[in-house]
Amino acid sequence: MRFLTGLQPSGQLHIGNYFGAIQPAVELQHKGEAFYFIANYHAMTTMESAEKLRENTRGLAVDFLACGLEPDKAVFFAQSAVPEVNELAWILSTVCPMGLLERCHSYKEKMARGIAASHALFAYPALMAADILLYDSDAVPVGKDQKQHLEVTRDLAGKMNDLFGEGLFKLPEPIISEVTAVVPGLDGQKMSKSYGNTLPIFGEEKALRKLINKKVVTDATPLEDPKPTEGSIILALYKLFATPEQYAEMVAAHERGGVGYGQFKKELFESYWEFFRPARERREWILAHPDYVDSVLEAGAEKARGEAAKTLARVRAAVGLSWV
Ligand code: ADP
Ligand code: TRP
Repeated sequence: MRFLTGLQPSGQLHIGNYFGAIQPAVELQHKGEAFYFIANYHAMTTMESAEKLRENTRGLAVDFLACGLEPDKAVFFAQSAVPEVNELAWILSTVCPMGLLERCHSYKEKMARGIAASHALFAYPALMAADILLYDSDAVPVGKDQKQHLEVTRDLAGKMNDLFGEGLFKLPEPIISEVTAVVPGLDGQKMSKSYGNTLPIFGEEKALRKLINKKVVTDATPLEDPKPTEGSIILALYKLFATPEQYAEMVAAHERGGVGYGQFKKELFESYWEFFRPARERREWILAHPDYVDSVLEAGAEKARGEAAKTLARVRAAVGLSWV
């Protein structure tokens, strides 16, 4: 079983990214062959400068490794280290109906946010399909928002198989974690960098403590009264980090009353800070060894290029681009 997923280097990682994408990917690396990449071609559709793209790509490599990606288990690489993916994206585009792309929510949502409509933004799902099909992936762990892109991928793979021969491409399955499908933000909406309501995975202790203290939204129940547990953002976040016993204890303390939100936020911060301690320590080590990141990405790219070359040779022959 081959798992593949990509993460865009589009800024500081938050705990929504962690529970929705990174943790599931880290778990899957022990269950089969894993191919994980930094989607820097994709990030170009919304990136403002070369400097920022470089910085974010490297930053994501460091953070993904810190969060438990094991380079001897997973093939880890930057998308741009395998430029062959663009050739496959072109080939897939030739069978990709405009209507299919026009229906994609992600494109419509970005347009609604005022991002200029470039050809690349529109054609993004064809490149994503190429990412997946180039490595003959069986399953793709993604967040709910990416489900439609997987449907496009399966559609294009099916069309290619009809036109150029059954078995040319595998039809990949999405893996969508229902448990952590939506991590709430500090204001209770979905956590997302577009909403400015995120809790970063990494950062400076004092600032993060203050963030939780000031930004997690609560109601105005007086300290001595029982507090609502339904819809509590503190409880929803605490559940991600605490043991079941600790969580049950905080629920009981809400129901009893006599404990203020300040105290609950303090406990939330402590559990969050402890949860990421091992990752933070690994990150310190990685930051002190920059060559390590380069060598991991280079070794990953080499393996990925080997796989890509095999698929492309097969596809070029099937579509008539090669004749020997
Ligand atoms: P953002 O919404 O902050 O821009 P991205 O769209 O870059 O995040 O998401 C990267 C990955 O993290 C995707 O797989 C996405 O499904 C997952 N993800 C993002 N936010 C959340 C969340 N609040 N809950 C669960 N998963 C999330
Ligand atoms: N589109 C994905 C996102 O925005 C990132 C991505 C690009 C991806 N190519 C992929 C995810 C291939 C899975 C498989 O989060």
